[in-house]
Amino acid sequence: ARSIILDCDPGHDDAVAIMLALGNDAIDLRAITTVGGNQVIDKVTYNAQAMLAACGREDVPVYRGASRPLLREVEVADEIHGETGLDGVELPQPSVELAPGHAVEAICRMVREAEPGELMLVATGPLTNLALAVRLEPSIVERVREVVIMGGGYHEGNWSAVAEFNIAVDPEAAAIVFAEKWPLTMVGLDLTHQALATSSVEEKMAALDTELSRIFLGLMAFFREAYRENQGFTDPPVHDPCTIAYLIDPSIVATRKAPVSVETRGELTCGMTVTDLRAPAPPECHTQVATHLDADRFWDLVIDAVRALGEE
Ligand code: BDR
Ligand code: CA
Repeated sequence: ARSIILDCDPGHDDAVAIMLALGNDAIDLRAITTVGGNQVIDKVTYNAQAMLAACGREDVPVYRGASRPLLREVEVADEIHGETGLDGVELPQPSVELAPGHAVEAICRMVREAEPGELMLVATGPLTNLALAVRLEPSIVERVREVVIMGGGYHEGNWSAVAEFNIAVDPEAAAIVFAEKWPLTMVGLDLTHQALATSSVEEKMAALDTELSRIFLGLMAFFREAYRENQGFTDPPVHDPCTIAYLIDPSIVATRKAPVSVETRGELTCGMTVTDLRAPAPPECHTQVATHLDADRFWDLVIDAVRALGEE
C-alpha cells in the first residue's frame, strides 16, 4: 500500500478524500494534518476528527497545523463550505484527543522516521504546512516519495480568473513547495472539474443505504447548491479525492510533465500556477500536471470505499 500523510482543510471534498483514503486498501493513511483554509483551523481540525469518527477510524492521528497563511490574512471559503466548513451534515462527536505537537513537526518527524522514498505527502488545502515543513527540515525533500497536490490549474481558475483557492490564499507557501525538487503532481482544476457528483453518482451512493452513504449525500446536497449559486455548476466538482484516486490507480488520472511556477506578485495573476506546456519538457523537470480523469472509474472507487467502510 502507499503510505501517505493527508494535509487537508475539511471541507466537503476533503471529507470525501478522507473516506476514499480510509476505504481503499491501496492507501495506508498514517496521519491527517490540518491547515486553515476552507474554514478557520479550529473548525477544519474538528471536522477532520469528526470524519474519522464517522468512518470508525479514530485510530488515525490528527495533528493541528497552521492557522494562517505565511504572509497574508486568513481568507476562508464559507460560501462554498458554510459556517462550519462541513455544512449539511451532522457528524458524530470525536472521542479521541488531537495528537500532541504541531502538524509541521509531525510531518518532519514522520518523514524522518520512515524509510527514504516510503512516505507520500498529499495536500488538499493551502500549502502553508508543507512550506513550513520544508523550511524547518529541508532534508524531507529527498526523503519524500512524491508530493500530490490538489490546487492550481494550468488553464482554469476559481478564486480569480487564473488562480485556484488553495494556491491563491497562500501563494508564497505554494511558491516554496513547487520550487523544491521533489517529484510533485499538480491535480488542478483542469482535472478536478471533471470529477462531478452527478445525479447518477448520487443514486448509486443512495443505493448503499449506510450511515456513511447518507453523510456523503448530505455533503453533496450542500455542495451542489453552493457550486450552483457561486460558480454556475449544475453538478459540484469534488476536487480533493482525485489526488487519492491518482495514488490508488494512476491509470485513472492522465498526467503530463511540465514545469510549474507560482505567481506571487502579479497584479492580476497572483496565485496563478504558470505551467509551461511547450514540448519537450526539460529533462530536469520534477513536476507534472493532471490532465484527464476517467470519471466513471473514479466514482466507482469512491462508491466502493464508502461501501467498504460501511461494512466494517
Ligand atoms: C479547493 O478549495 C477548497 O474549497 C476545496 O476543498 C478544494 O481543496 C478547490 O479549489
Ligand atoms: Ca480542500
